[in-house]
Amino acid sequence: MALWVVLLSLAIGAVAGAGVTLLVVSSLRQATSAVTMASALLPRGVTELVSLIEIPLAIVDGAGDIVAMSPSTGELGLTKNRRFASEEVRKIVERVRSTGRPASKELELLRGPLGGTTINLSLRADRFGANFVLVVMADKTEMRRLEEVRRDFVANISHELKTPIGAVTLLAEALQQAADDPDTVRHFAERLSDEAARLSTLTREIIDLSRLQAEEGLEPFELLDMNDVVAAAVDHNQVTARAKGLEIVFGGDEGATVRGDSNRLVMAISNLITNAITYSVPPGRIGIGITRSGEFVEVAVTDNGIGMTPEETERVFERFYRTDQARSRSTGGTGLGLSIVKHIVNHHGGDIKVWSRPNRGSTFTLRFPYIKPESEKEKAA
Ligand SMILES: Nc1ncnc2c1ncn2[C@@H]1O[C@H](COP(=O)(O)OP(=O)(O)OP(=O)(O)O)[C@@H](O)[C@H]1O
Ligand SMILES: [Mg+2]
Repeated sequence: MALWVVLLSLAIGAVAGAGVTLLVVSSLRQATSAVTMASALLPRGVTELVSLIEIPLAIVDGAGDIVAMSPSTGELGLTKNRRFASEEVRKIVERVRSTGRPASKELELLRGPLGGTTINLSLRADRFGANFVLVVMADKTEMRRLEEVRRDFVANISHELKTPIGAVTLLAEALQQAADDPDTVRHFAERLSDEAARLSTLTREIIDLSRLQAEEGLEPFELLDMNDVVAAAVDHNQVTARAKGLEIVFGGDEGATVRGDSNRLVMAISNLITNAITYSVPPGRIGIGITRSGEFVEVAVTDNGIGMTPEETERVFERFYRTDQARSRSTGGTGLGLSIVKHIVNHHGGDIKVWSRPNRGSTFTLRFPYIKPESEKEKAA
């Protein structure tokens, strides 16, 4: 092949290659300019600023696409392919853009791609620059739930008091009418004392709970050994456990020291043991283990009783909550015991966990900060 043919083909190759390269470069330029175009109107640094903000916040462009959002926005589960999944939210944004007037709204929306749970959202949208809308959101789900619990509390107190008071009134009338029949009188008198006991437990628990809240922080904490606290709580429950044919065993690490109010901690653990007794079927065993691990002292109260479903375990710390099973067994409980436990534990800087399976049993685990006795002495010196 002549040299010129080789040179020509090389030249053609080079030109073609350069052409392709030019094409690629120019299309890349176009793509980049499209991206810059979309965010060109956003003031410089806004995207970076938004990524540093903790509250849920998003900036939406004229096409309804989210061009910038804070990290917590994604956690709410309300966006899909960088757009708001809810049509209602998209409409609000569109209205704000077209009218220029800000909007605030409380919404109840489905969360996540499968929409399994709902979220109570407080939303505020306002125009941002000429073509964008700024959406600021707040997750109010937990707040709404607590408001509901508080409202229920008052309603439940009246309901719970009404039942035994009504029963006492009826039984007293029945007693009057059966005055000549000693057997019937004995029967009604027994029931009357049951109802009186129920009323007295309920009143005591309501008083305990409100006193706990009112006195918070007034009493000085002292250095306590968790073994002594547990021993006292077991002591309170021993008679009832034996009467029901249940055995209580306890033990664990020595030197499990915490700072706290002895009476309250005994009350908390005693409530857990009372539950373990109430919701166990004899012959059963209740175990209480004390462990010191690293920074914490743990107390686990375990029973092999009736247990609970996962849905029930999620709600047990709510005031007046009782599982259906517990209701139908008419154990006479009021559903305040565990709220009191949780309150005391939180007040001591601790936390509470529960594991339970129907017909297998339950374990309630309390965790408190471990306090070295030496560090306390140093403080006192
Ligand atoms: N160890 C347990 N095993 C199974 N269910 C339990 C256990 N502990 C608590 N529960 C369930 O949780 C509910 C709430 O317990 P909580 O102690 O708050 O109230 P209660 O025992 O019903 O009444 P009280 O206020 O008299 O303690 C109980 O009614 C019961 O359904
Ligand atoms: Mg209880």
